[in-house]
Amino acid sequence: MLHIDQPEDRGGPAQPLVIARGLAKYFPLKRGLFGSGGAVKAVDGLDLEIKKGETLAIVGESGCGKSTVSRLLMGLIPPTAGEVLFDGELVGSAALPAKEYLRQVQMVFQDSYASLNPRLSIEESIAFPPMVHGLGRTEAVERAHDLLDAVGLAPGLFAGRYPHELSGGQRQRINIARALALRPRLIILDEPVSALDKSVEAQVLNLLMDLKEQFGLTYLFISHDLNVVHHVADRVLVMYLGRAAEIGPVESIFAAPGHPYTRGLLASRLSMDPTKRRKTPPLTGDPPNPVNPPPGCRFNTRCPIAEPVCSNSQPNLAAIGHTIHALGHEAACWALVPGSGHSLATRKVA
Ligand SMILES: Nc1ncnc2c1ncn2[C@@H]1O[C@H](COP(=O)(O)OP(=O)(O)OP(=O)(O)O)[C@@H](O)[C@H]1O
Ligand SMILES: [Mg+2]
Repeated sequence: MLHIDQPEDRGGPAQPLVIARGLAKYFPLKRGLFGSGGAVKAVDGLDLEIKKGETLAIVGESGCGKSTVSRLLMGLIPPTAGEVLFDGELVGSAALPAKEYLRQVQMVFQDSYASLNPRLSIEESIAFPPMVHGLGRTEAVERAHDLLDAVGLAPGLFAGRYPHELSGGQRQRINIARALALRPRLIILDEPVSALDKSVEAQVLNLLMDLKEQFGLTYLFISHDLNVVHHVADRVLVMYLGRAAEIGPVESIFAAPGHPYTRGLLASRLSMDPTKRRKTPPLTGDPPNPVNPPPGCRFNTRCPIAEPVCSNSQPNLAAIGHTIHALGHEAACWALVPGSGHSLATRKVA
């Protein structure tokens, strides 16, 4: 029988909860008339750390691979390459079998209705996962009621209802309660409030932040809404065409973005507000096809400061922050690498 209470912290607070190395997912294309079709490189060489107790947000345009990362971490699809460590243990090893790992990682999706079985009452929906894992019915129902309370829905009113009798915001609260039912350590939230009205969105975000404290959770938060990310995230990972363009503390990323792509994303958001208009041009056009990503830096075809070096070789993440607030701020851009050959890269004085 699996454990049904939150497991002990193994490696201590300094050890990242999740370390992903060299993560890749290629979706093969169907073979067409003209032979083998290659593959969609949805995620293509991603290193990632999620620290204990933090909210790491992933942002980037549609199709950059955010959901593929979450599905890889959830074990919903096998990786083409790479490995994941959870609290120091390799996922799938004898020390951390996949089944035990998957209990400690839960997910909440955008579509609150599709995630719930329409034939199960709310109480059954929440009590079901712990029962599958061996908790007795009485305890499981008790836990379901406690969790309804925790997500702000009176058990007496809601336990017996069915998903279609609830609003979108209420259904998302149920999905959150369900995700908590196995006492996970990591919750992956993939656009959890994107389908909700603005007023409901704020309530659900506040609830998520409260629950994080109350249950000692760590969040991976995926969103296309930079305002929401600014509000909830501790750190932000900016993805472009399956790779990391930039990562760092939220304030440092928003105040001093290093990568031209991040500046473009932020400018696209601000271009709606005339008082905050910036000099950086917002992003234009669409990302290139992930079947044949451009050589060198993947952003070079849309980048306002691209130079020959940018299409010749691929930059990796490198530290760009020089203040205490920018600790851990990294970007993958040749213009920031002294000696790279990019004319904007200032050579360090020896
Ligand atoms: N099952 C699949 N088969 C083939 N291609 C896929 C599959 N799932 C995703 N892709 C492709 O992989 C790329 C990344 O998709 P993904 O859903 O991870 O992006 P995303 O960043 O979550 O986008 P969005 O913001 O629209 O949710 C896209 O080009 C997508 O078309
Ligand atoms: Mg997605």
